[in-house]
Amino acid sequence: MRVLTGIQPSGRLHLGNYLGAIRQSVALQAKADDCFYFIADYHALTTVTDPQALRDAVHGVALDFLAAGLDPEKVVFFRQSDVPQVQELTWLLSIVTPVSRLELAHSYKDKIAHGKEATHGLFSYPVLMAADILLYRSNLVPVGKDQKQHLEITRDLAVKFNMKFGETFVLPEGYIPDEVATVPGTDGQKMSKSYGNTIPLSGTDKEVKKAIMGIVTDSAPVEAPKDPETNTVYKIYKLLAPPEKAAEMAEKFRAGGYGYGDAKKELLRAYHEALDPFRERRAALEARPDDVRDILAAGAAKARVEADKTLHAARRAVGLE
Ligand code: ADP
Ligand code: TRP
Repeated sequence: MRVLTGIQPSGRLHLGNYLGAIRQSVALQAKADDCFYFIADYHALTTVTDPQALRDAVHGVALDFLAAGLDPEKVVFFRQSDVPQVQELTWLLSIVTPVSRLELAHSYKDKIAHGKEATHGLFSYPVLMAADILLYRSNLVPVGKDQKQHLEITRDLAVKFNMKFGETFVLPEGYIPDEVATVPGTDGQKMSKSYGNTIPLSGTDKEVKKAIMGIVTDSAPVEAPKDPETNTVYKIYKLLAPPEKAAEMAEKFRAGGYGYGDAKKELLRAYHEALDPFRERRAALEARPDDVRDILAAGAAKARVEADKTLHAARRAVGLE
């Protein structure tokens, strides 16, 4: 069984990305027969317009995955644009893509509703994503809930192409790990780079402290008993600290006499306990940019071999070969 997933390098990753996506993807490497993980830089171009910011983000995401324990021996880890074959497949899939299907894509509609320009790139984003998935004959695609519809589009396009031109593509299954909790941001909404409410993953100690001490809380006095389940400090703590420590904090909140300031300090400690090994590995890798480049280049070479096989099959199917 082949697992494939992509992550967009659209900025510095945050604690929500780590707990909600990176950690799961890295854990899967031990279970799957083979894994293809890539940095979706072509996709990121729909949002990142500064060239240096894109380069930095690609490098940053690579560091994040490697520091989180991605093993390049087990995972074909590469940069999407290092395998330009995906663009040709995007075109072949475009031939069977109804415009009406893309017009119904939630993520496209949301972005337009938020004032983004309706470019062709944004519109055909799901076709490129389908090409990513089908090019590598993926069986299982771990994604966040927001990507579910893109998976459905991918399956529809594969079925249409196979019906029209003969069996060419493997039908993938989406995999939305449901045990993954949504990590709240410092304002209590979902942590997201678009909301400016993130706790950094790789920022300086000072940045981390500033974010954690800045978590928005209510104005209940220290002595008041508090419901842990409705407070953001505890919700994040629960995701980072060992269960017995989380239970202890919940108890202190319920008993009263425990203030948010103390809880934030406790959360800061838990953050460092949970993430310092990651942060140290990341810093060590950061000092060896050539190693990271070599890993991505080796991954791309392996990915290209697989990509060529599928692309030839698709080209033959339509009559280009
Ligand atoms: P952002 O909302 O910051 O733009 P993305 O949409 O790029 O993040 O998400 C990349 C991955 O990280 C996805 O798999 C997504 O499900 C996961 N993720 C993002 N934010 C969170 C969060 N707050 N809690 C859990 N997972 C998250
Ligand atoms: N669209 C995905 C996201 O924003 C990233 C992505 C691009 C992807 N291509 C993919 C995910 C292929 C899984 C498979 O999260």
